[in-house]
Amino acid sequence: MSESVKLADLVETLQRLAPGRVPGVGETPDPEKHPWVVWKSSGIPGKAVMEIPGLVYGDPKKPIRRLGIGLTLTEGILELAGHQGLDAVLVHHPVADAASSGGVLLKDYCELYNLAILELHEAFHGIHAGRAILYGLKMLAWKDNYGGLTTPGFSVRICEPSEPGMTLGDLVRRTSEFFEQEHEIGMLEHEKERFGYRKIDGAAMFSGRILHGTPDRKITKLLHCSPYSGLAPDHLELAVKEYPDLDTVFLTFSLLSPEHYLVEAARRLDLAVVIGSCHEWEIYENCLPLAQAIKDLLPSLEITLFRSRLSAIPLEEVGNSFAREYARRIASDLKAKSG
Ligand SMILES: [Fe+2]
Ligand SMILES: [Fe+2]
Repeated sequence: MSESVKLADLVETLQRLAPGRVPGVGETPDPEKHPWVVWKSSGIPGKAVMEIPGLVYGDPKKPIRRLGIGLTLTEGILELAGHQGLDAVLVHHPVADAASSGGVLLKDYCELYNLAILELHEAFHGIHAGRAILYGLKMLAWKDNYGGLTTPGFSVRICEPSEPGMTLGDLVRRTSEFFEQEHEIGMLEHEKERFGYRKIDGAAMFSGRILHGTPDRKITKLLHCSPYSGLAPDHLELAVKEYPDLDTVFLTFSLLSPEHYLVEAARRLDLAVVIGSCHEWEIYENCLPLAQAIKDLLPSLEITLFRSRLSAIPLEEVGNSFAREYARRIASDLKAKSG
């Protein structure tokens, strides 16, 4: 198989994988013409971004031999991609100039390393059976508007277990095994020990767990949602009215605490609450199958996945004595100048 893959071939491959959702090479990404080209805005001045499935930056004639795939573009990815000599980076979440590139112009970063950039976000959602396979759930209904209560991007799925008899414990186990939660927690523990931190937090520690209910509680019907899309207690009440046998709320890309108002609302309705994967694990849910599909269609491409691990450490624990002295000295100068 060939040989010389061009950036345009990669865009065409994305068009094949998400038919009708990716603008062609040379087309202006116009939200009026392309339903999957969308402005995303919370209404915060100057912070809107346009989601452009497909090519974001680069010459379509550019030969592509090595491709990096990641969840969210950062300066870290650009640096590593540049060092590795990659030709292009494809990310799932939408790219924003400067914000995705360490506060400097994205074009300058890309030119420095001769990198092309592509993205594929909402256009990739919902076109594969990922969640059914991953969590063992069968979708019965999908709602983007619940009883007139909605926000942009709102999405709720009513599901039942593919195999009867699934318990809350089974769902958590399935999530933990798929995302290798034990190893992820082990990595955090290793980091803590290696750097001598007294405390460390990481998303892996708060994912895959039951917030309300017992592991042996059976799941009959489940509401699955990523709560940042606008889930409110009212939605849970409407769902219970519509599906009286609804007994579980399954929240993914979410690290709600047991005291969160949504968990309280579910508890009041006697709905069990399970937290699934954290958002950074979406690399496995969406980027991994996308990377494999591209590899299958363009086998000559060498593909690298960029995964990230975030840890939270108390200020007093960060850095060695040199770094801490550096911080104290500058802070003291700043304080003196500020009067
Ligand atoms: Fe996504
Ligand atoms: Fe995401």
